[in-house]
Amino acid sequence: PGPGPRADDLLAWYDRHRRVLPWRALAGEVPEPYRVWLSEVMLQQTTIAAVRPYFERFLTRFPDVFALADAPEEAVMSAWAGLGYYSRARNLHACAKAVAAGGGRFPDTAEGLRKLPGIGAYTAGAIAAIAFDRQEAAVDGNVERVLSRAYAVETPLPGSRPEIRRLTQALVPADRPGDFAQALMDLGATICTPKRPACALCPWMRPCRARALGIQETFPRKIKV
Ligand code: ADE
Repeated sequence: PGPGPRADDLLAWYDRHRRVLPWRALAGEVPEPYRVWLSEVMLQQTTIAAVRPYFERFLTRFPDVFALADAPEEAVMSAWAGLGYYSRARNLHACAKAVAAGGGRFPDTAEGLRKLPGIGAYTAGAIAAIAFDRQEAAVDGNVERVLSRAYAVETPLPGSRPEIRRLTQALVPADRPGDFAQALMDLGATICTPKRPACALCPWMRPCRARALGIQETFPRKIKV
């Protein structure tokens, strides 16, 4: 096999095709942790299209972590109404209170973020990379699909998760980890789709092992239930 996938090629693609989203900073700027955190919690189990208006409304009602922490529980729940998975809203509020009580700064490492309510491994990695330029991976279902195809990972999910995580982490560049994380999300959402992936447009077409074998749709392998 030839050379494997490279962060450079993905980042060059991202620079041309990055989706403009309200929680993303402009190219070259680091976004506000509060906005990154809020968007990542909302985007757990929810599509970008559904999140957008909620994200904007939340920022208007609760412009910073102190405003959110100080708001009555009912105000937070009513702003969340319609987004679903309401434990996220309760955790969001609890997290805001914890951060506000500690002075208002979010922890700037994945390990520190992971200790907050509602922040699991994926969200901690995403926030650390995007908001704090930490060399962390954010591996969700989309990213698992991209990596399992790029490396033709034969082990089925969920057992392959540690391996996919290692493969992703090994690619994270030191200089633009947040862009890399979001580039992988965009690639999984727009090119490396579950059905009929648009391989001809993919920056990783050449190194993709699944594509070379012509069996890209068969990844990620899954245990039959
Ligand atoms: N899904 C979860 N987080 C995301 C982000 N920052 N950009 C695009 N899609 C996402």
